[in-house]
Parts: sequence; structure tokens; C-alpha cells
Amino acid sequence: MCGIVGYVGDQRPNGRPLEVVMGGLARLEYRGYDSAGVALVTPGGHELTFAKKAGKLSNLTAELEERPLPDATAAIGHTRWATHGAPNDVNAHPHLSEDGTLAVIHNGIVENFALLRAELAAAGVTFRSETDTEVVAHLVAAAYGETGDLTDAVRTVARRLHGTFTVLAVHADRPDTVVGARHDSPLVVGLGDGENFLGSDVAAFIAYTKEAMELGQDQVVTITPDSVDVVDFDGEHVEPKRYTVDWDASAAEKGGFSSFMDKEIHDQPHAVADTLLGRTDLQGRLVLDELHVDEAVLRQVDKIIVVACGTAAYAGQVAKYAIEHWCRIPVEVELAHEFRYRDPVVNARTLVVAVSQSGETMDTLMAVRHAREQGAKVVAIVNTHGSTIPRESDAVLYTHAGPEVAVASTKAFLAQITAAYLLGLYLAQLRGTKFPDEIAEVLEDLRAMPEKIQRVLDGADHVREIARSMAGTRSVLFLGRHVGYPVAMEGALKLKELAYIHAEGFAAGELKHGPIALIEEGQPVFVIVPSPRGRDQLHSKVISNIQEIRARGAHTLVIAEEGDDAVLPYADEVFRVPQTPTLLAPLVAVVPLQIFACELATAKGLDVDQPRNLAKSVTVE
Ligand code: F6R
Repeated sequence: MCGIVGYVGDQRPNGRPLEVVMGGLARLEYRGYDSAGVALVTPGGHELTFAKKAGKLSNLTAELEERPLPDATAAIGHTRWATHGAPNDVNAHPHLSEDGTLAVIHNGIVENFALLRAELAAAGVTFRSETDTEVVAHLVAAAYGETGDLTDAVRTVARRLHGTFTVLAVHADRPDTVVGARHDSPLVVGLGDGENFLGSDVAAFIAYTKEAMELGQDQVVTITPDSVDVVDFDGEHVEPKRYTVDWDASAAEKGGFSSFMDKEIHDQPHAVADTLLGRTDLQGRLVLDELHVDEAVLRQVDKIIVVACGTAAYAGQVAKYAIEHWCRIPVEVELAHEFRYRDPVVNARTLVVAVSQSGETMDTLMAVRHAREQGAKVVAIVNTHGSTIPRESDAVLYTHAGPEVAVASTKAFLAQITAAYLLGLYLAQLRGTKFPDEIAEVLEDLRAMPEKIQRVLDGADHVREIARSMAGTRSVLFLGRHVGYPVAMEGALKLKELAYIHAEGFAAGELKHGPIALIEEGQPVFVIVPSPRGRDQLHSKVISNIQEIRARGAHTLVIAEEGDDAVLPYADEVFRVPQTPTLLAPLVAVVPLQIFACELATAKGLDVDQPRNLAKSVTVE
């Protein structure tokens, strides 16, 4: 939660640092949009100016147009997802020292802020806001007053803070410096020529540089136009790892679509294709070089636990069916926030798979830490390079979905399923639970998926039309069986978060155990119908479920394979998807549901990229 940008540079024309920071905030706004603010230090120093405004970044932009700020050489910017204090102008970041010479911005929660606030108040400090962050401003100002060293002041204060934080600070006396510190919250460094950047993630600066540096846990970074200096919380110098970001800046722009959500839904063929790319050798065998876990350990694994939240957890639930089928290893899928609090049975033979788009979800990170403490090996499936979860895991399998900006996840979901399948097939290859030609066949089917997803996208007019006609709907149910069950839950989640419509996903077989009581005349129900070519009885069972709800008045919206005419007598609307093997069907079946939610929300006039109350990266527990 909260987006953070920092910039220092002296080679840009007038006003440029503010533009850089505002551009970065625009790309990070998905992390929170309760308020936004900037603080700047003028080139000669001795003047710190700021502006901040409740609401979306556009409010701050309007404020800056009305009251422009002077030119600067150092700038910080913040976009907020409120934790402590209402989302108003006063609680917006930056927060300033009493004399107005120092400004800080913060992402996370200072858990001991009440204690620190009481201590400062007793010393005579007057507080302006209700935030936990303001204590940091006053503490850093006091520490700076003693030594005149901004890095040291931030480091000293960081050691006193409990909870999670990324903090950036600027001081009027230091026109060439931004100092940042992190503990359990993300911060990456962008390396420029005569300028340097800080950001909550690389999207903050990829328009300017692709050279980046990972900042480790409990480190303090000081950037000037020509230097980047990193120390740990004890003041010891550290040499962080550099890397080159492989995202294209244009990948973070809308590219002609009306929303990031729409663009990202259309990015999905690429997200799957790119995630598959380069992961087989010339003989077609899976090669996951990045999986730095001893093969002997992987052969010994007797249980897999997927930990994740929200959409990522649904991707895990889809993967469970495939991995158990291919590897004959039991797979549990656990919401990460439930995992560590229930004393789970985890040991050295457990493989924990942490799935996360952002790589920063605090609940998932905590589950990763707990699993490793219990001796489990952790493989992360993550989309964002330089994020925390991969750094704290034993190995990472990156999804190559590119930057996902819209708050609700779409392309990352498909990429997560793809990566989890690669992991499952790799384990099957390693453990010999599937013959090489069977694995090769699944890989071939996977490689055919981008084209099938594209066909669903190309033929989506009908689903859009129905979505628009249903803008007044108050409740929609989703039914699925087997891998269709998590798809149903994901379809319901998309509708809830984008269109603010009550929606529930059920296992179709569970209907008659209760939920069928919800069915009344005209109740819209999406049903995800499995392939009639599957070897099991799934298809006929789901057809029976459609009949049961239709008989009770449901308005049935059926997702079925091309050529499956058995659904026709019971479907009010049919949305076709290409013929696909059962285990891979979620990659196509979810697409009409995403489009439905996006189109319906748009028809209601809602902001599909930034739904209310949500943030892209949930970096608090
Ligand atoms: C829903 C959505 C969320 C995320 C969840 C986990 O559309 O985006 O449910 O999937 O917050 O986030 P990551 O994947 O970043 O760990």
C-alpha cells in the first residue's frame, strides 16, 4: 500500500524533478489513491516546499497548476492508502517537522507510534495530523538537529520504529539528497546518469532508467545525483545487487485501451506466452534454472502448500488439481493470512509455494517466513522483480505478465496458473510420475493457449453486450466444478471488486447442500461447463446442475466449449471458449468473466482501474 517516489538530479531543465515524481506517482497510483503529495528542496537549498491533497492524484495535479511549486533538485512524492487517520488533506503525506525544514513520506504502519507520539508530545511537540507517520518526521528532525547528518538521523530513527515501513526524507539544507530506509516494505533504487531514483517498485522510474538496485531488509540508502550509498541499520556499508529491469516503459502505459484493466485483459495471450518462454531445452524437457532448490530435496517433498491471497490464491486452487494429478503429491491451498496462525504441519519435506503478483503482500510474506522457520523450502511465483517475497524465498519462478497496473488482477492470474503448471510438470519430470511424452504433450497444449485466449478476446462482443444490459443487476452467482470452481470464485471476485455487485462463486455440486435456496425467478447465474471430451463425468454432472437451477427460474449464462450443444436447451446465453483439455480450461474460461465484470462496471460509470477501498499492493497485515 502507498506508492513512494524519490528523485535527485541536477541535469534536468527547470521543474523536471517534480515532473519525474508526478510521473512516478501516476504509475504507482494503483498502490493507493486516498491522497497524494510531494515535497521539494530548491537548488540553492534552505527552502523546502510541499503540496498535498486528499483524493486521487488528479487533485494534486490541479492544486499544483493553481499554486505551482518552485524548481527543485531533490523531490519526494507519495500516493496514500490510508491506515492511520482519515483520508484528508492534513493526513496526506508528506509530513513535516515543526520548523518545516524536513519532510518525510512513509509506506507501512509504525506499530509503536502511540508510544513515540506520547514521548514527543511530552517533549512539547505539537502534532498536526492523526497519522503514525508524523512521529517519524519529528524524530528524524530531532536526530538531524543533533548531528546534521540526514542518513544517520534516518538510520537512528529507523531502529526505533516497530512495524513495517519504507520512509523517505528530504531536508532543506540538503538540496542534493534523498534518504530512504526500509523494513518489511518495498523500496528499489533506479540508477541514472547524473540523477538517481527511489520507488516502491520499478514502475516509478522505468520511463527513465532500467538499471536498478535491490535494497535489502533493514537498509538505509542515500541518493545524490552522482552517488548511491547503502548502509544497514548498524551503519555498516553494504553492496546491494544490481539488475536490469526487463519491462518496457510502454508496458506500463494504457496503449490505446480505455483502461489499464481492459489493456491487461488483452495482454493475457502475451502473459501466458512469455511465462512459458525459455523454460524448455532443445529436447523439449523442462529446464527451470531459476529453481535453486536441491533436486534431492524436491524428490523428497511429501506435501505442497500453496500460500497466497485473493486472486493469487484462486490461481493456487486451480494449480492444486493439476499438480496433484501430475505429481501425486498432496497439495493444500491456504489463504496466507490464515496459514501461520493455525499452527500448520510444515517440515523439511514440505514445499511451500508462495504466489503473488506484487511480491509484497504482507500476509503472504509472513506465511513465507513462518514456513521457512519451520524448515520448509519456499518457492515463490511472483511477477514483480526486486520485490520482497522472492528475496526471502529459497527460489523464485517469475511470471512474465509485465507490469499489472489495474488494481484488480487479471493477466497475473493467468500467468500464475501457467507458472504453477510449469512447476508441477517440472516436479513430475523430476520424480518420474509422468512419462516425458505426456509432459511434452501438456507443454504443447500450454503453448497453444495464447492463441486460444486471443480467440476468446476477439469474440467477446456478446459478453460485452450482455454485461451492459445487466448494469442494474444486484446479485450474480457463479458455479463451477473441478478447476471450474476456483474460476467461478475468481469471476465472482472480479464482479464484486469492479462493479460493487454482490457475487458468490460456488462449487456446482454444493448447490443442493444450501445455496440453491438463493435461486429465484430471474437470478443470473454463470455456469462454467467443463469439456464434454473429458474422460470423467464432470460435463454431464454440470449439465444436471444447470437444469436444476433453470427449473427454479435462474437466468443462466453459460460458458461452454465450441461445439458443446448439450448446453443449448438450458442456457439463456452461451459464451463460447475454444476446445481445451480440462486442466488448462481455466486459462480461457476466466476471460469472459473478466470482460463481463469490466464492461458492466464501465457501464455503471465506475473506475475499473482503481475500485473503491482497494490497493494494489497490500503491504499491511
Ligand atoms: C483481486 C486482487 C487481489 C490480489 C491479492 C494478492 O483482483 O488483485 O485479490 O490477488 O491481494 O495480491 P498479490 O498477488 O500481489 O500477492
